[in-house]
Amino acid sequence: MASRQTGGRSVHPRIVRLTHWINAVAMVVMIMSGWQIYNAYPIFPFVFPQWMTLGGWLGGALLWHFAAMWLLMANFLVFVVYGLLSGRYRAKLWPLSLRAIAADTRSALRGRLRHDDGGTYNAVQKAMYAAVLLAIALVIVSGFAIWKPVQLHWLTALFGGFQGARLVHFLAMAVIVGFIAVHVVMAFLVPKSIRAMILGR
Ligand code: HEM
Repeated sequence: MASRQTGGRSVHPRIVRLTHWINAVAMVVMIMSGWQIYNAYPIFPFVFPQWMTLGGWLGGALLWHFAAMWLLMANFLVFVVYGLLSGRYRAKLWPLSLRAIAADTRSALRGRLRHDDGGTYNAVQKAMYAAVLLAIALVIVSGFAIWKPVQLHWLTALFGGFQGARLVHFLAMAVIVGFIAVHVVMAFLVPKSIRAMILGR
């Protein structure tokens, strides 16, 4: 399979690279506008600094959030359908075991994790990618529960009501933000992986 080859050949097909970077931009808009919306009615005893938010005020942030959510969802749908139908997820994220995650975490902490095969993800990477894909799915579904709590009352009820859906939406966002923080640092520690995600090779 071409996408598994390395060494100057294709590592990431064009559709994966395109959807990855569209997702990154849409995600930043969603998170920053989401923090502004949160600030208008916080769940926890803190608010986000104004400079970390987008939209200026609640109304502006809602416009950003409702605009970027369609981009995020359509793009995520393309990424997931492609990943499932092409067999990419099976090839890249499977097999995965707790034992492999523990072994690769130990190697990483000792600085002994190998990065020479850019076409294969280590077990920690696989687990993180699988977890963030689930968190994105959860943030979308809980977002619908908050957006249309009357029309989709059965969905909102699944989260234990409006406040429950808000809490799940916030926690899924926190998982995504935690992922991004680690992910971006790791990407810059292995710069050739960024080149591969831009150029494919
Ligand atoms: C500026 C921000 C970002 C940078 C620099 C970046 C960089 C990268 C790089 C270099 C890879 C390839 C890793 C490898 O080949 O070893 C990758 C893969 C991936 N990234 Fe990002 N990323 C960013 C933002 C995001 C965001 C916001 C998400 C989701 C919340 C995300 C989710 C993923 C996933 C799921 C993969 C695996 C894709 C696959 O192989 O199917 N990334 N990223």
